[in-house]
Amino acid sequence: MRLDKFLTRRGTHPCKEVSRLLQDGRVRVDGAVETRGLRRISRFSRIELDREILQAQDAVHLMLHKPAGYLSATTDPQHPTVMELIDHPLRDELHLAGRLDRASTGLLLLTNNGRWSKAVTEPLEEISKVYRVTTRDEIPPETAAIFAAGIYFAYEDLTTRPALLEIIAEREARLTIHEGRYHQVKRMFHAVGNQVLSLHRESIGPLVLDHSLPPGKFRPLTAAEVAFFGR
Ligand code: URA
Repeated sequence: MRLDKFLTRRGTHPCKEVSRLLQDGRVRVDGAVETRGLRRISRFSRIELDREILQAQDAVHLMLHKPAGYLSATTDPQHPTVMELIDHPLRDELHLAGRLDRASTGLLLLTNNGRWSKAVTEPLEEISKVYRVTTRDEIPPETAAIFAAGIYFAYEDLTTRPALLEIIAEREARLTIHEGRYHQVKRMFHAVGNQVLSLHRESIGPLVLDHSLPPGKFRPLTAAEVAFFGR
């Protein structure tokens, strides 16, 4: 929204007066005087008039090291949800930017910033996600070429985008995918006659799960981490 629209909509100053307030340097955005009515603001911009706070809502962006056994949901009648792990004053405003299956572990993002979570989950060029996988059976080397070519998912009638499989051990691999279909990793291994026994998300785009974060713990993202996906 434009700053002048925000100020006019409050109803305390008509349009002309708003221009004057701005020209007189009485309005601050995020701590700095702003004279341009055209300035774009978001619901997380801190707006002050004569040092009185008109709007100051914190944007919250968290990374959680999801443990197994928790649902990626805000509420559930049956199972514990990841929200139970989040002891934060704005917890009730948060939503998930992406999901992991109940048994899966690793990097999960939560935020109250809808624009940001959209940038994480719905970009045109899908952001890469890296998973560490252990499997029931040995992973033959040719699996890498099969995953690179794409796996046909009949239910959605689509072929998965080229994925990168790095075999680490007989039954262990790192898989990089560029989309997030339902149970995607499990279904890809199922398609080659194997079964995923454990699945751990290491990263989403440039954002890597903090190695010092034990399972079940969360921390706020740094400003640089938030900026990976815009604000
Ligand atoms: N693919 C899966 O099958 N499960 C997950 O939790 C994430 C990706």
